[in-house]
Amino acid sequence: MKRKMIGSILITLLVAIGVLVFLQSPWYKNGEMALPKGVTDGETSILDVSAQEKGDRHVKKFELTAQDTEWQISEGKKVNAWTYNGTVPGKSIRVTEGDFVQVKLKNELDVPVTIHWHGVLLPNKMDGIPGLTQDAVQPGESFTYEFIAQDAGTYWYHSHQQSSVQVDKGLYGSFIVEEKEKKYKKDEVFILDEWAVNQEKEDITNMGGMMKGAMSGDGEADTKQMYDTFTVNGKSGKAIEPLVMEAGEKARLRFVNAGYQVHRLVFPEGSMKVIENDAERVVSDDNNTNVLEIAPGERVDVEFTKPDQDTVFIGQEQNIDYAEDMILPVVSNETHADQEASLAREAGTAKGISYGSEELIFDKTPDPDVTYDMDLSMGMSMGEGMSFQINDKTFPDTPPIKVQEGDIVKVTLRNKGRMNHPMHLHGHRFQVESKNGKEFEKPIVKDLIHVKPGEEYVIYFKADNVGEWLFHCHDNNHAARGMVTIVDYEGVYSPFELGGQEKNQPN
Ligand code: C2O
Ligand code: CU
Repeated sequence: MKRKMIGSILITLLVAIGVLVFLQSPWYKNGEMALPKGVTDGETSILDVSAQEKGDRHVKKFELTAQDTEWQISEGKKVNAWTYNGTVPGKSIRVTEGDFVQVKLKNELDVPVTIHWHGVLLPNKMDGIPGLTQDAVQPGESFTYEFIAQDAGTYWYHSHQQSSVQVDKGLYGSFIVEEKEKKYKKDEVFILDEWAVNQEKEDITNMGGMMKGAMSGDGEADTKQMYDTFTVNGKSGKAIEPLVMEAGEKARLRFVNAGYQVHRLVFPEGSMKVIENDAERVVSDDNNTNVLEIAPGERVDVEFTKPDQDTVFIGQEQNIDYAEDMILPVVSNETHADQEASLAREAGTAKGISYGSEELIFDKTPDPDVTYDMDLSMGMSMGEGMSFQINDKTFPDTPPIKVQEGDIVKVTLRNKGRMNHPMHLHGHRFQVESKNGKEFEKPIVKDLIHVKPGEEYVIYFKADNVGEWLFHCHDNNHAARGMVTIVDYEGVYSPFELGGQEKNQPN
């Protein structure tokens, strides 16, 4: 009797020790299985990392409802869109720097959604990544995002649940943080995008797509074969609402590329000057460029001065299919945009890396605490078609960038494939120090770097925002096929998991 009892106590003890050892073991922590909720393993949940307090800040409240919308792109082109508040783009949100922002997301779709605040530095649990920073917001449910709008500039928001599908279907909008002292009376946002209207989004998993892609030289054949319509603020061609300005008037025009194709906008000669890129002010005395190259996911603000003419045009360079869809007339009060569109002759081109930033993160190239080589490539994976890889792996098997708070992190991005990869880091800004081994005279601070085939960039950032953050290709079709990794801070863990009952699927 007694022996039996001691026996069973011993067994219980052994089991308990076994469970403890199991929970501590590294393969369990880093493997497929997430720690069950409530088990901290000595680490802090990202939900317990201190949030931002509203204090005595102005509180700005918004409500965004994800819903089904029949959206008219142009005469004769209608799509079944998914929208925030019934329009593409979704409601434009404007706040002032320093405001405390509260956005209640209500989901009236029959699929789960989230909102990611692209480019905004905010607490990790407000980043909107299903399976990493929250559970996807289920049909009929809601979630409130809260953060301080710290830095003035142009940002955008979009769903990060199945983003390759949901952003394509229209779940995006602009998020503008205005300066306390506004410099421009006229201030407009234009979001560029591509749609598959007359065709199913073509499958890039097949050999044909891969071959076509590999053969073409511009790095985006895969995207080009998928989409057949361009839009500006959800409208195409003649349906685009003209911008009304008087000759000589100045305006701040903010451009966001929500699509996966590079757009090159041609401005009237001498009318345009880049002032910000990814919400960072740039230093430029360049008055010669009149072509603006905007990479997928990028934001560029320009100062535009309307030339001395009633009607002028800003439009996609005309050397690609569907370019005529993306022409913005700039008209005077009295005139209408019935004039035949024509674009100016091209002088120089401005792109994301053309100008140095006014404010740098590092005065000189720092000594890194962590270095990470990020090789970007593509391949075929058995049975699943084309894949896009980081260091020969696809997410979630890509090696994470492991950091400690305070680390200076150096990442070398190398594009070894034949496609463009606009790589975007969440929760941080980075400083671009060199391209193809050559240092920039004036470094550039950004949150997205467009890496074209054969290019190599070295970037540095400071690990100063504890959490679990995505670093991924913003051609979301590439992200969905693997090109994603995580900046993983020591000492914190995510209590969420991919898949599961919530169908968490970030890409
Ligand atoms: Cu526009 Cu993962 O972001
Ligand atoms: Cu890519």
